[in-house]
Amino acid sequence: MAVAVGQKQADGGNAVKIVPGPVLLLGAPGVGKGTQAKAIMAAWGVPQISTGDILRANVSGGTELGQAAKAIIDRGELVPDALVNEMVADRLTQPDTASGYILDGFPRTLGQAEWLDRHLEASSNRLPVVAVSIKVSYTQLLRRITGRRNCPVCKSIYNIYLQPPKVDEICDLDGTPLARRSDDTEAVFEERMRTYDSLTAPVVEHYRAQGRFEEVDGEQPVDAVTAAVMAAVLRLRGTAV
Ligand code: AP5
Ligand code: MG
Repeated sequence: MAVAVGQKQADGGNAVKIVPGPVLLLGAPGVGKGTQAKAIMAAWGVPQISTGDILRANVSGGTELGQAAKAIIDRGELVPDALVNEMVADRLTQPDTASGYILDGFPRTLGQAEWLDRHLEASSNRLPVVAVSIKVSYTQLLRRITGRRNCPVCKSIYNIYLQPPKVDEICDLDGTPLARRSDDTEAVFEERMRTYDSLTAPVVEHYRAQGRFEEVDGEQPVDAVTAAVMAAVLRLRGTAV
């Protein structure tokens, strides 16, 4: 059944399905983009497209792209726009993106944002994106980055200080030993923040200027941030909560 973007679709019972269209999650390293994208994916049934996760999968798989990206990621710099845009274009051809998707960590340069605008304009699904930026203070970000652990199997995200697993260093869901990202050191975090301030902060202004932008406080409990992001998306789509 065709459904208008941002509307709630009755599924025959009492439940309703939200069709959010393309949603961007913006924000500095560690604000909770991945955590929130996973929660929204579970709630709304649309995929998370994380350029960081796709790049890391290429690094672990030893692909040509992964070999080119590894040193760049470990320095806290950005992979060239052309490589990342191509990765996203490829992912957007998958049928699971039809009702919408959560872009996590893309676009993060003005060039990527302008490419995405043109790409969506030219595609059969001409829906504009809506962007939500998550704000967290520098001190809290450092704690989030240095305490982060990930499950290499199910990709769940933990934090040894703030969101600890039930058993130290073990995934609650599948018992796998947790891993630490190679770029989650204080030194690389500082470089990632510099990169964010110089190259990604202008992307926020790009969407703010288009009036398709809201900001949420990311220093609340995870569930409260999820509710705030989802409410912002529905407001931006003109749909009552
Ligand atoms: P990427 O993987 O996108 O890293 P990032 O932007 O630095 O963001 P993070 O993944 O570190 O943080 P997050 O916001 O997802 O936070 P999370 O939910 O994990 O990119 C990595 C690299 O890849 C880049 O540096 C670049 O080199 C390359 N790259 C990627 N995309 C690119 C692009 N488009 N162009 C060019 N290069 C690109 O949460 C963090 C921690 O906080 C976790 O421990 C979590 O448990 C905890 N936490 C989350 N929310 C809360 C909360 N509300 N309360 C308490 N703790 C919380
Ligand atoms: Mg992330």
